[in-house]
Amino acid sequence: MLKVLGLTVLLSFSGAVLATSVADSHTEMAGCESCHQDGAPSSDMAYENETCISCHGSMKELEGDAHKQHDGVITCSDCHVVHEASPASGSCTSCHQP
Ligand code: HEC
Ligand code: HEC
Ligand code: HEC
Ligand code: HEC
Repeated sequence: MLKVLGLTVLLSFSGAVLATSVADSHTEMAGCESCHQDGAPSSDMAYENETCISCHGSMKELEGDAHKQHDGVITCSDCHVVHEASPASGSCTSCHQP
């Protein structure tokens, strides 16, 4: 019981975004098909990025400067590496000089 409790506390401190990847959280909600057509990745991820927008809205509708500054410039998966448990905020330096 104590062990179970300890794990729960650890997970809630590290935060849901870090504890599990976006792909895992979404697969749990609605399966691989929630983002991949027939569950199989496309070659250019255009289909996948359309699914993000259909559920969350476009970048100009989303909260936060990171979204509004990139509306029409880049796509969701340029920052959200959804199969990795890493925060999107870590992606900035891959395009901008630190
Ligand atoms: C939240 C939407 C989402 C879900 C759910 C999801 N994926 Fe993905 N997947 C992506 C995106 C976006 C990429 C592009 C790389 C990245 O951002 O991680 C990708 C990449 C992939 C790739 C690599 C393709 C390549 O060409 O590099 C495979 C394989 C894959 N997904 C399989 C799966 C499987 C199997 C599941 C279910 C267990 C799944 N995905 C669930 C969005 C998703
Ligand atoms: C079928 C609808 C649906 C699709 C498609 C979808 N999402 Fe989500 N997403 C949700 C829901 C529901 C939640 C949980 C509630 C919330 O935070 O809005 C969520 C949560 C999130 C979160 C918060 C962290 C987490 O893992 O829960 C991020 C980041 C996210 N989505 C990004 C994306 C990205 C990027 C894509 C496309 C690759 C995508 N979503 C596709 C419905 C969707
Ligand atoms: C310029 C990079 C960037 C792009 C492009 C981007 N995001 Fe984000 N997004 C972030 C950052 C940074 C956060 C803050 C949390 C983090 O660091 O993961 C965030 C947070 C989110 C959240 C809330 C996560 C939570 O913890 O509740 C959702 C949902 C989300 N983004 C969806 C999207 C969708 C859908 C798209 C495409 C339409 C998109 N994002 C494009 C950088 C980006
Ligand atoms: C995939 C590449 C890419 C990623 C990742 C990325 N950006 Fe950008 N960003 C761009 C491009 C392209 C522009 C538009 C051209 C420009 O103004 O440099 C831009 C514009 C901006 C601007 C507006 C700059 C201006 O002069 O108006 C800011 C601020 C910014 N990004 C911050 C961020 C932050 C913070 C992150 C991480 C959350 C991030 N970017 C991630 C490519 C990226």
